[in-house]
Amino acid sequence: MDYHWRDALQDALRRNRGDAHHRYFQLATIDEAGWPANRSVVFRGFSDDGQRLQVATDARSDKVAQLAAAGRGEICWYFTRSREQFRIRCFIDVHDAAAPEAAARSGLWSSMSAAARAQFFWPAPGRPLGEGEPVAEEELPPPSFLLLELDPQRVDHLQLGPDPQRRRISTLQQGAWHARAVNP
Ligand SMILES: Cc1cc2nc3c(=O)[nH]c(=O)nc-3n(C[C@H](O)[C@H](O)[C@H](O)COP(=O)(O)O)c2cc1C
Repeated sequence: MDYHWRDALQDALRRNRGDAHHRYFQLATIDEAGWPANRSVVFRGFSDDGQRLQVATDARSDKVAQLAAAGRGEICWYFTRSREQFRIRCFIDVHDAAAPEAAARSGLWSSMSAAARAQFFWPAPGRPLGEGEPVAEEELPPPSFLLLELDPQRVDHLQLGPDPQRRRISTLQQGAWHARAVNP
């Protein structure tokens, strides 16, 4: 079977690019009490080696503490035009200014719109409305800005169409991807 989930995901990105929401996915982590914690984020592209998915987030948000404790999560990404879902289990690394990936973090910051950047100067997300101090604009990117790199370990790809439905599960074993078709 000549299949690689990464090619399938690239195809999905291309085929769904007419939808403004095609770069949003849901990212679930586990909180300190064991509850799943899920939220929408923007896919910002792949790392230079093409292996990891990148997301920008705020250092003060709950997900960052959850990632410090657990370091893993799951993406759920549905493409409405091509009617397919990718569920991607990942290890997740958090990169700040001190990380070896600082250049990638700065590059992402430079590529973002002014509106997207502005949020990183707002008072801390999740605090009671009106509480907390805004972030100073001394350092760019500001310390509140983090690059998340999501390193896939297992991918469950479900295609609802065209008929018949298809589902493939890919797992990473000793550095190589193995895909198998399963019943949808
Ligand atoms: C369409 C959409 C895109 C979003 N993109 C991001 C994003 O790229 N990064 C991010 O940290 N939060 C993003 N958010 C906000 C998150 O869904 C969430 O509310 C916020 O990150 C706080 O989550 P947390 O408290 O679980 O950390 C987005 C929300 C929506 C609705």
